[in-house]
Amino acid sequence: MSVVSSRIGVHSQHMRVTVIGTGYVGTVTGACLAYLGHHVTCVDTDAHKIEKLRRGEMPIYEPCLQELLQLAAAGGGIDFTTELAAPAAQSDVIFIAVGTPPLETGEANLCYLEAAARSIGAAMDDSKFRVVVNKSTVPVGSGNLVEALVREGIREAHPGDPKGIHFGVASNPEFLREGSAIADSLYPDRIVLGAEEERTLQVLRELYRPLVAQSFRAPAFLPRPAAVVQVPMVTTTLTSAEMIKYAANAFLAVKIGFANEVANICERVGAEAPEVMAGIGLDSRIGSRFLNPGLGWGGSCFGKDISSLLHTAAEYGYQARILEASLAVNRMQRGVVIQKLQEKLFILKGRTVALLGLAFKPHTDDLRDAPSLQIAEKLIQMGARVRAYDPVAMDACREQNPNLRITYCEDVVSAVDHADAVVLVTEWPEFTGLNLKHLAARMHKAVLIDGRNVFSADAAREAGFEYAGIGRFAGRPAARPVPAAVAD
Ligand SMILES: NC(=O)c1ccc[n+]([C@@H]2O[C@H](COP(=O)([O-])OP(=O)(O)OC[C@H]3O[C@@H](n4cnc5c(N)ncnc54)[C@H](O)[C@@H]3O)[C@@H](O)[C@H]2O)c1
Repeated sequence: MSVVSSRIGVHSQHMRVTVIGTGYVGTVTGACLAYLGHHVTCVDTDAHKIEKLRRGEMPIYEPCLQELLQLAAAGGGIDFTTELAAPAAQSDVIFIAVGTPPLETGEANLCYLEAAARSIGAAMDDSKFRVVVNKSTVPVGSGNLVEALVREGIREAHPGDPKGIHFGVASNPEFLREGSAIADSLYPDRIVLGAEEERTLQVLRELYRPLVAQSFRAPAFLPRPAAVVQVPMVTTTLTSAEMIKYAANAFLAVKIGFANEVANICERVGAEAPEVMAGIGLDSRIGSRFLNPGLGWGGSCFGKDISSLLHTAAEYGYQARILEASLAVNRMQRGVVIQKLQEKLFILKGRTVALLGLAFKPHTDDLRDAPSLQIAEKLIQMGARVRAYDPVAMDACREQNPNLRITYCEDVVSAVDHADAVVLVTEWPEFTGLNLKHLAARMHKAVLIDGRNVFSADAAREAGFEYAGIGRFAGRPAARPVPAAVAD
């Protein structure tokens, strides 16, 4: 460790850090820590990704990441390698940010985590105290597993006397959202640190000091929100930190599932779900975020994390019924689009359906568990032709789903041209400003399924569309003009 004052205004102990895994979490974590002034080495077994990063190309789409990496190189410094041993040996802190995908059983696949932990052990020597930090989302008990595997790695590499080698293990779950990952990391709601030893926590408190105090100069392209003055740091046991991550994701998924369930009831009774959500969201105990009815949540985390938590609960003899129901409600919600298309078009065979958006949410190219894929598969299976347009995720979709018979289109207009229906799947900002009249005029049948409720139902109908949103009352009359006295 060294005390340095950096170009971005931070005066603190600057550390050497290794981040294992250069996916969405690892690359962003590495870039942010280097921006704060630490020297970071990012390691990945995927040589192709490392080559790209070395050339300054992004292996993933994440707004502001390229800009931040440039500042990071000029800050504490950041480099990329496939070789873990040398950077791990020099580092004060080693983050594990590898994938933990689900197995068939719902359990988290820990093989990447285990390999990383063993390699860390093999790289250790007695020259300094190091902290191994688990940033991957892992089941309760994984901190202990990492510690045991690091020790095994040490014993294998130092069969004689490994006694002088000291390290601590911590859990530091990640809460970033793809699409706003840099802002979420520089201005987080909280930092959670779980460890059993004070010495371990102290190293991490020092590492995160500039973030907690918000003492760094904000990048020009991502100004600090006025409300962010200091970031709360929650220190817990290893087990509690691991549970916090799962509980947070489970709660968010349940909240979205709840909004979808209420929306489905709204449709049946003639209520407008967006109005209902606005009405309940103003209750400070509930809050308005994550209450937007839609086509169900997707992405790499919610489904796998709930399955993993269910698996852990079952191991301890507990059946987590709310979590089971949230998975079932989400599965059902994916089918709502097909049902609505059938209501409008009756026959789907031979119809052409345009999907607007493929990524599981806007501002990312991530297609893991994206509703679009399931919808496209089902439509194709039912005999429909599927066209799609997404501002960033089309290359990834083509590459990852070579057998999915989607026609990829250059823009929205070519996607909807002579189509029988258009489905808004991902709420990219460029879709919200579309000229609906122009689109309706180009279609064979002007049917619009608004899977994210981004359009005004009245405006869509005025433009000539047969419109269906999620949880919106089909027979709703046009809004009555507000009397001038009231409007004032
Ligand atoms: N993506 C998110 O939004 C998000 C948010 C919070 C937490 N998480 C969690 O963070 C973890 C990482 O997620 P991600 O989306 O960044 O994954 P990812 O799949 O994008 O990246 C993981 C990377 O780890 C690399 N890797 C695997 N084994 C390795 C090894 N032994 N040594 C070096 N590199 C190795 C892979 O090649 C890959 O590049 C997961 O546990 C995930 O649940 C993800």
